[in-house]
Formats: sequence, C-alpha cells, structure tokens
Amino acid sequence: MPLTVAFFDTKPYDRDYFSAADTAGLDLRFLEHRLTAATVSTAQGAAAVCCFVNDRLDRPLLAQLRDAGVRHVALRCAGFNNADLAAAKELGLAVTRVPAYSPHAVAEHTLALLLTLNRKIHRAHNRVREQNFSLAGLVGFDLHGKTAGIVGTGKIGRIVAEILRGFGMRVLACDPFPDAVWAAQHRISYVSKTELFAQSDVISLHSPLTPETHHLVNEPTLAAMKRGAFIVNTSRGKLIDTAALIEALKSGRVGGVALDVYEEEEGVFFEDHSDRVLADDELARLLTFPNVLITAHQAFLTREALSEIARVTLENLRRAASGVPFLEGTQLA
Ligand code: NAI
Repeated sequence: MPLTVAFFDTKPYDRDYFSAADTAGLDLRFLEHRLTAATVSTAQGAAAVCCFVNDRLDRPLLAQLRDAGVRHVALRCAGFNNADLAAAKELGLAVTRVPAYSPHAVAEHTLALLLTLNRKIHRAHNRVREQNFSLAGLVGFDLHGKTAGIVGTGKIGRIVAEILRGFGMRVLACDPFPDAVWAAQHRISYVSKTELFAQSDVISLHSPLTPETHHLVNEPTLAAMKRGAFIVNTSRGKLIDTAALIEALKSGRVGGVALDVYEEEEGVFFEDHSDRVLADDELARLLTFPNVLITAHQAFLTREALSEIARVTLENLRRAASGVPFLEGTQLA
C-alpha cells in the first residue's frame, strides 16, 4: 500500500521534478493551494504532507494535521521559520527539511540581482527592446575595490562572499558563529554588525529569520549605513522593516535594493496577479523606485536545486514510512 502524501502549494515545476524523481512506494497528491486553516481538511487521508515556505505550520494547524492522521511534515525548502517545531515535537509529528539543496543556486541569484541592479541591466534591456539606445541614467559603479558586508556566513553567505572576493571586493562579515579559518583563507574580516553596516557599499543578507534577526535592517541600522549603499536580500523578507526601507529609499540614504524575498510575500509571490489590483501599498511603493529590483522568491529555482529537493524529500518520506532514520541533518522535529 503506497504512502499518501498531500503536496501543498505545488507549481508545474514542482510536479515535473517530483514526478521525474524516484516515487516508488509513494502516492503523491499534488494540490495547488497553500496549507492554511481553510485548506487543512484537504490533507485528510494523507500520512504525510509536503510543504513550502509560505504554508502555515503553526500549533493549531499542526494539531489539525495530526488529528487528520498526518505523522510527517516534509518541508521542501531550507528555511523553517514558518513551522512551530516545539508544537510539532509535542504533537509527535516529525518535521524534515532540505538543508542544502544548492547553496550555489541562491548565491548565484544574489549575484545576478546585484549585478543587474548596479549596471541597470533590467532598464537597459527594456530600452533596447524599444530601440532606445540611450545610456543616460545607466551609470553604475565598479564592484572592484568596494566593500561588501555579508550578514550570515553559512552555506549561502560563504559562497557569495567568495564570489565577491573574486570580483576584487573587500569583504566584511558578521555571524554569531564566525569561522576564523575560512575567513583567513579567503581574506575576509569578521566585524560587528554595526561596523559592517557603517563600512559596506553592498550589504547582502544570508542569516535565517529568527526572533533575533527579525527587522535586522530597520530605521537605526539604515541610518548607520554608508549613504548610497546597496542592500540585497535573498534570505527572508522579514529581515527588513519595509516601511523603514521605503523611507531610506525616499531620502536617498539607500542607493539601491534588490529583493528576492519580501516581508509580506505570503499570498502574493509565486502567483500571477497581473489582472488584479495590488492591495499591498508597501509592495506597490517599492515597485515604483527605479533603484529597486524584485524577483518573486526564485533564488532556489535551478534544475539542480529542484532535482535535489525532490530526491531528499522523497527519500525522507519513504524513510518515515518504513521507520528508517531520516537523512543526516534533515530532521527538525
Ligand atoms: P545556514 O544555516 O547554512 O547559514 C545561516 C548563517 O546565519 C549561520 O552561519 C548562522 O550562524 C548565521 N546567523 C544566525 N543568526 C545570525 C545573526 N543574528 N546575524 C548574522 N548571522 C546569523 O543557512 P543557508 O543555507 O546559508 O541559508 C540562509 C538563508 O537563506 C535560509 O535561512 C533561508 O531563509 C534563505 N534561503 C532562501 C532561498 C531563496 O530561494 N530565496 C533558498 C534557500 C534559503
């Protein structure tokens, strides 16, 4: 009897990559809607659920899943700020994630955003397509010789830092768990967060979302930044206080912002809203700035990452069903 898995918030690329992987012993039930209090009943009959970044896994919802017969929550992502792990443990639910499907995918997208923002490739592309070959307003700056600040030197932050060293940038970093050997090897300096904000021309966020990192970029940190510095966020939207960011953009304190994640992305990102009125005034305001570049949480979206997410998630679903320990480093609860 195959194990039934309810897959929430699935898109065509999820279905393609999960269906192409080894699905032996599993009955995958792909659902397009997100997991919310209103949709939790659609997990009925499933022994496991597979969720993504904007599925809500708070205590009441986990209790409802457990009552519906679910025993395993498999997150097909690295971040797990949307899951109440203490509640899951108390309820006897196993929770797994995919901790490192391709840190290169996210790091490379971070660089794509930074280079596009700085050299205004998005604006140049639109102009050239309109046969407007003017260069006015497209002046960028050399990254070489400038200072980058990496907040969080885990798997992704390190790759970004090493690539930026390759550009000839001076790289500063902050992390509560610094790795002095790695830093010395790449001639990267750990400094305090205050120093990093004060000295960097480009700040890139790579720490997880936790109570400590919530609104890490806020009014005081923005005020302490070098005037005209860039901020890139491919980590989690709530690391930035959006209202404070908008004020800093309006005053020119921040020179440019590239976001792959947004504070209130839930229910907006990953969907086509092109025929609707945008109800989020802060997102609407961000979209008006010529020096703001936004992608809709796509840093993970490479062939390699999707294949690895499918492989690890399906293997863990099978392991849960047969009582075998999960793949190393993937179990959260
Ligand atoms: P990781 O766990 O390898 O590294 C996170 C690092 O942040 C650790 O070194 C940790 O010590 C550090 N950190 C924790 N608190 C900090 C603080 N207050 N200040 C500075 N550093 C702090 O995680 P990884 O794989 O590098 O991923 C980073 C984040 O990227 C994830 O938490 C996730 O939110 C995000 N992500 C975004 C994706 C996207 O598609 N946009 C895809 C995958 C991950």
